[in-house]
Amino acid sequence: MDKKKYILAIESSCDDTSASVICNTEILSNITANQEVHAKYGGVVPELASRAHQQNIVPVVQQALEQANITKEQLNAIAFTKGPGLMGSLLVGTSFAKSMALGLDIPLIGVNHMQAHILAHFIKNDTPSPTFPFICLTISGGHTQLIKINDYFDMEILGETIDDAVGEAFDKSAKLLGLPYPGGPLIDKHAQNGNPKAFPFTQPNVGKLAFSFSGLKTQILYFLQKKIKENPDFIKENLDDICASIQHTIIEILMKKIKNAVKETGIKQIAIAGGVSANSEIRKRLKDAEKKWNWKTYIPPFEYTTDNAGMIAVTGYLKYINQHSDKMDVTAKARLSVTDC
Ligand code: KG4
Ligand code: ZN
Repeated sequence: MDKKKYILAIESSCDDTSASVICNTEILSNITANQEVHAKYGGVVPELASRAHQQNIVPVVQQALEQANITKEQLNAIAFTKGPGLMGSLLVGTSFAKSMALGLDIPLIGVNHMQAHILAHFIKNDTPSPTFPFICLTISGGHTQLIKINDYFDMEILGETIDDAVGEAFDKSAKLLGLPYPGGPLIDKHAQNGNPKAFPFTQPNVGKLAFSFSGLKTQILYFLQKKIKENPDFIKENLDDICASIQHTIIEILMKKIKNAVKETGIKQIAIAGGVSANSEIRKRLKDAEKKWNWKTYIPPFEYTTDNAGMIAVTGYLKYINQHSDKMDVTAKARLSVTDC
């Protein structure tokens, strides 16, 4: 029997239309069409997102198959993001995946987007994958969670945000500074040239493993209003230092919570996942922690941090080999916990 299994995966949970072909855990292609249309609105507009997915999905899937150099008849299964995400966006990927699986008469595999961010660590690359159990800090535009991973599909939430997600904290701070959406990567870029101690912000006082970011946003808003009153060019003249200070405060919070989780569980294998794990400071601080505290850290390759179908493909493969497929009546779910299969 041929041990090579080819899976086509589709991700359409938010504003990126992505398709990937995987052969076992090796990514053969991972194509993403970003939607520029949202930038001028300062955030994702759900109706525009689903329309753009409809326009992008056929060419993106075609390109993914072409780049992988396989035909659709060689596919063993179709995986797709079933949730969580924007309903209108999810429905485009779900319907497309269903019709393709039906037409080719192959299994259909619904994937939990949050599990996929974590399981991206099992995509074949030059670095070793984590062994169980490990702790994963999932940091994205919609989530901030500390999760204990006991096995591929056995996860426990140790702590999470009580209000905004960390990606939102980056994006909302960036908006206050007049930077376009999504502002996270821009704060990271400006922070490279700034002084992280220039403007100290206070950290929230919530439970040991819980997060809160809405207070930080308000603090930054009042801080900027005060400074702009004194000097209307304050942001322009201090952009790098402001970005470095905001980023430093956010990363300090994240590092402190990971330390608490290590203390509570005794587990020193730490992974990060989700869009914010692209951030250069968290990546650097985790590498430093390996030497300082004897942790073993796992940082996903840059291209698998923000939303992409590669992570859906590897999760699809792991489900496929464990015989987890779905029936044709599977539905998209806007809300889905990382602990749901
Ligand atoms: O995982 P993701 O692509 O989408 C969600 O599922 O939410 O995460 C997107 C988030 C956005 O908030 C974006 O600003 C943030 O990830 N992000 C970053 C960086 N790159 C992306 N935040 C800080 N630094 C970065 N380098
Ligand atoms: Zn995501």
